[in-house]
Amino acid sequence: MRSKRLLKRNDLFPTPIWTIDQCGVDKNKILDFVNVVKEEDPRGRESSNIGGWQSWDFTPPVMKENPLGELHDNIIRHTYACADDFGFQHYTLSMLNLWININLKGDSNVSHTHPGAILSGVYYLSLPDCCYGNFTFQRNPVDQHLRESWGCSDNFNRSNELVADEYDIYPEEDRLIIFPSWLTHRVSPNVGEGARVSISFNITAHSNFYHEIYPKGRDNRTKLSI
Ligand SMILES: [Fe+2]
Repeated sequence: MRSKRLLKRNDLFPTPIWTIDQCGVDKNKILDFVNVVKEEDPRGRESSNIGGWQSWDFTPPVMKENPLGELHDNIIRHTYACADDFGFQHYTLSMLNLWININLKGDSNVSHTHPGAILSGVYYLSLPDCCYGNFTFQRNPVDQHLRESWGCSDNFNRSNELVADEYDIYPEEDRLIIFPSWLTHRVSPNVGEGARVSISFNITAHSNFYHEIYPKGRDNRTKLSI
């Protein structure tokens, strides 16, 4: 066996994914509201979802007027903790959009990222008793290819997070997952008897320095004759 005595490893560029349980919002009140929204707009929209129902976007001013406002405030509070943990400094967060997903048996979401945001997430409002599908994060396909170009899939220990191509997070009711928006992810089909109801969101971060820097930059740009 090869000696590990002198082996020192640095794990560079780790990717954080945060999970928060028991967020403390009134789930039943939000669920009642979700049902009203779906009743009023049974068609919804199509995005990354295969099957299922997805609402149109809610923005913070609209959420202030309905039960999603409590969830918005809760998410922002937790996301500040995540961003601090991530090393952000001198910043202000704001939610870009939030939308509702209702996936019934067989419904899923294909691989995607959330361009235009810095942190994104999902809150699980209601789940069937079992078999509701995992939330799966995926390694960058280019990294997968470069790493595996010398051998085959059996050349790696797939249970080791250093080489795993995918990582599953198990949904639970009242669980909030927050992740960097550029991280590719997908949602497995719900194969349970009942609805998987979740709420997704995108958050951006504003630099607290921009109020000093941007006016100057904007003035300079207007002087150019292009
Ligand atoms: Fe997503």
